[in-house]
Amino acid sequence: MLNVDTRPIVLTGDRTTGALHLGHYVGSLKSRLALQEDHRQFILLADAQAMTDNADDPGRVARNVVEVALDYLAVGIDPEKSVICVQSALPALAELTMLYMNYVTVSRLERNPTVKQEIALRGFQRDIPAGFLCYPVAQAADITAFKAGLVPVGEDQLPMIEQSNEIVRRINRQAGREVLPEARAILSTVGRLPGIDGRSKMSKSAGNAIPLSAKREEISEAVQAMFTDPDHLRVNDPGCVEGNVVFTYLDAFDEDPAEVEELKAHYRRGGLGDMVLKRRLDERLQALLGPIRDRRADLATRPDFVIDVVRAGTERASKVAEETLDTVKAALGVFSFGRS
Ligand code: TRP
Repeated sequence: MLNVDTRPIVLTGDRTTGALHLGHYVGSLKSRLALQEDHRQFILLADAQAMTDNADDPGRVARNVVEVALDYLAVGIDPEKSVICVQSALPALAELTMLYMNYVTVSRLERNPTVKQEIALRGFQRDIPAGFLCYPVAQAADITAFKAGLVPVGEDQLPMIEQSNEIVRRINRQAGREVLPEARAILSTVGRLPGIDGRSKMSKSAGNAIPLSAKREEISEAVQAMFTDPDHLRVNDPGCVEGNVVFTYLDAFDEDPAEVEELKAHYRRGGLGDMVLKRRLDERLQALLGPIRDRRADLATRPDFVIDVVRAGTERASKVAEETLDTVKAALGVFSFGRS
């Protein structure tokens, strides 16, 4: 019997721009931990994509490849189960991107809502790097190179998957058969995690993030500083649960949702102070992040191991991506000069 791997294929990635934080954990890492048990999972250290909005700081992009890899391993991504690989070390991805670029229009790229939002956020205005505008095409290459059907991501990435599927349909139509599969997102059950200020999503640049590698005191300080209900001045006042970051986090991290519901009711009635809630959240976060921090510290003393893991993963990924590139070229009947 041939040993054919029939597990569904999963692909995700993270830009290597900084250490990962709790927002990444809730949005995607947690699903990846579950998926690696019975899926064929590829995880990209997306350094090429990171360059699209960090061209003025390539050192940051390069440095963070290992940092993000450390985060993966510390959180429990198991290299025996998941393939961790470096995007820039997979030339097939760049070749697919160049090819796909011809199956998407500039106006379609300009309409991508996430790209639009990011352009505003980064103040690119009229000076949009071409690489940045085209990164959804590169992301389509990422997804399709592994023939992934599933992509666990945050909500903001839905337009990328839609755009990828459009490219897939164009290629398949051109080839006259289904060369590439379409993919669908796996969204986390918990919505997007707000930053500790409650104002926007958690991000390092907004200064409202709790990194996965946060020290004990750093976690406590962040919890202390968390936005609650500014009108809840006395313990006995009724408090507001909606928009109260401590409750949003308890919903995301507390293992006893029934008890959290009771706490919400109590808070709304009045008589429950912020301190009690913050102490509870602090405990939950320390219990989650403590072991991650310890594993990360241990791995950081063994950089050779981490590099070997990523190198081996990149080699495996390279075979898959090259094979897909060949399939797409053959299906379109191009770029085969000199081959029989
Ligand atoms: N765009 C993703 C982010 O900003 C990172 C990423 C790169 C990605 N390639 C991917 C996500 C492929 C899913 C699939 O977080």
